[in-house]
Amino acid sequence: MAIEFELNGEARNHAGDPEMPVLWFLRDHAGLTGTKFGCGIGVCGACTVHVDGAAQRACLTPMRALAGRRLTTIEGIGTPQALHPVQQAWIEEDVAQCGYCQVGQIMATIDLLRRTPDPSEAEIAALGNLCRCGTYPRIRRAVRRAATAMREARS
Ligand code: FES
Ligand code: FES
Repeated sequence: MAIEFELNGEARNHAGDPEMPVLWFLRDHAGLTGTKFGCGIGVCGACTVHVDGAAQRACLTPMRALAGRRLTTIEGIGTPQALHPVQQAWIEEDVAQCGYCQVGQIMATIDLLRRTPDPSEAEIAALGNLCRCGTYPRIRRAVRRAATAMREARS
């Protein structure tokens, strides 16, 4: 039986292997290549997506885990005309170097700020997504900038 779920706000189904990693589905079947393949073993965070709004490693999440749930990728976060505040902060802090890890960094940050609108330095440092270019200082500044912008927008 096909697995039914939502992908970036649209109803989808998957009738193939229920054990297929979500990362494979996104990149090879759905044509959504914003989510990156880094380590493939749940360590680097390059493949971070949201399932029902919570960050998850797409390389370790099987398709069967999506049944009845909402999957969101970077393609479902903001648009060039209306960026998400986290994307805006990333641009303003000029965070990216090679850029490979940055989608995962942004998806992890959106989840952090959903759970913790005013994160401490320790909570930001605990994000755990790897960046081989060492952009961590700029990532931390962008997280703080986005957190401030999102709090101000709510008040
Ligand atoms: S590719 Fe999924 S955590 Fe590295
Ligand atoms: S910007 Fe190059 S790996 Fe993070």
